Amino acid sequence: MAIGSLLVIAAYFYHCEAFAVVQGDVLNERPIVGILSQELSLRVHSMFPKENYTSYISASFVKDVEKSGARVVPILIGRDRSYYRNILRKINGVIFPGGVSKFNNTNGYADAAKHIYELAQELNDAGDYFPIFGTCLGFQFLVVLTSGRGPEAIRIKCRSYENLPLNFTQDFRKSRMFHEAPKDIIRILKNKDVTVNSHGFCIVDESLKYHNLTKYWRPTSYSNDEYGVRFIASIEHKRYPFYGVQFHPEKASFDWKSSKHYTHSFVAVRTNRYFVDFFVNECRKSQHFFANAAEENAYLIYNYAPKFTGAMGSSYFQCYMFEPRGNV
Ligand SMILES: *[C@@H]1O[C@H](CO)[C@@H](O)[C@H](O)[C@H]1NC(C)=O
Ligand SMILES: *[C@@H]1O[C@H](CO)[C@@H](O)[C@H](O)[C@H]1NC(C)=O
Ligand SMILES: *[C@@H]1O[C@H](CO)[C@@H](O)[C@H](O)[C@H]1NC(C)=O
Ligand SMILES: *[C@@H]1O[C@H](CO)[C@@H](O)[C@H](O)[C@H]1NC(C)=O
Repeated sequence: MAIGSLLVIAAYFYHCEAFAVVQGDVLNERPIVGILSQELSLRVHSMFPKENYTSYISASFVKDVEKSGARVVPILIGRDRSYYRNILRKINGVIFPGGVSKFNNTNGYADAAKHIYELAQELNDAGDYFPIFGTCLGFQFLVVLTSGRGPEAIRIKCRSYENLPLNFTQDFRKSRMFHEAPKDIIRILKNKDVTVNSHGFCIVDESLKYHNLTKYWRPTSYSNDEYGVRFIASIEHKRYPFYGVQFHPEKASFDWKSSKHYTHSFVAVRTNRYFVDFFVNECRKSQHFFANAAEENAYLIYNYAPKFTGAMGSSYFQCYMFEPRGNV
């Protein structure tokens, strides 16, 4: 084993207590990221009244992954656990995107996310590195899933529809997410309004503490909502390569609804890249592959063409639309 990889392993143990995973020398330079679809909101449904679409993925998440050097496979909702087990064995990580899905819809985003979260824990426990990244609602799902409680126990009502800076914790540089982040990226995140917020629920320190979730999750930064409530803006799991951000890294580059005032400045675009670049690099540590090129081709999102939903008023500017739910 090369000295370089010993140092990497030492760094892992130093930075992440119970992190049990030791990786091989070789990074996977053809990573494939699964993005979980979700049930249509009434808004998106009303745009396609004649179609039989039942789920969608905002293309902004797809493009964000593609520009970081990975390909995307859509993960459908409404399937049984064997579908998720099977697909996780072929891909290198999963993104839980933001949106407005309910926590209690049957066979929707919530049930699919729970399967994936549990299966990813099993993989990691077996020494098979498998990362998850949750954005906005996806971040909230991750923490709610750890709690085993309903969302009302973990989230509070809040209001944040602004571009905001991050207030980092004192030891954020010891986190996996930020320990190699370039200094200028950190300086911009601290001082400029570059993270796009769009949420009516927040997770705050008090809920983490009350539900004993600080054993599992380490907040690394905070922002303040419109009433001054200090909410968790970024978080990572202490044992698993699971990450969450309350803001939307994908919107600065890819979502253009003008009334939303998402920042599109040069520094915002450049800075927000950091999060998906980081996550795709985590996915490079996974050694899952499709059986062959034909199987890989059949799953890739290139089999679908996104719709220009921005022209229909959606804040998701382009969406991939999917047909009826599968086998559940
Ligand atoms: C929707 O599903 C119905 C029933 O299967 C089918 O007859 C119809 O052609 C589908 N509509 C479209 C636009 O695919
Ligand atoms: C689902 O949760 C919402 C609140 O988020 C609640 O209003 C609704 O009654 C719940 N539905 C069911 C079927 O439990
Ligand atoms: C950042 O958080 C610290 C507490 O961790 C607090 O004292 C400080 O006021 C916060 N700064 C801003 C700009 O909100
Ligand atoms: C948190 O842990 C403490 C000590 O183990 C326990 O008394 C308490 O009930 C736990 N809280 C919750 C919400 O589970």
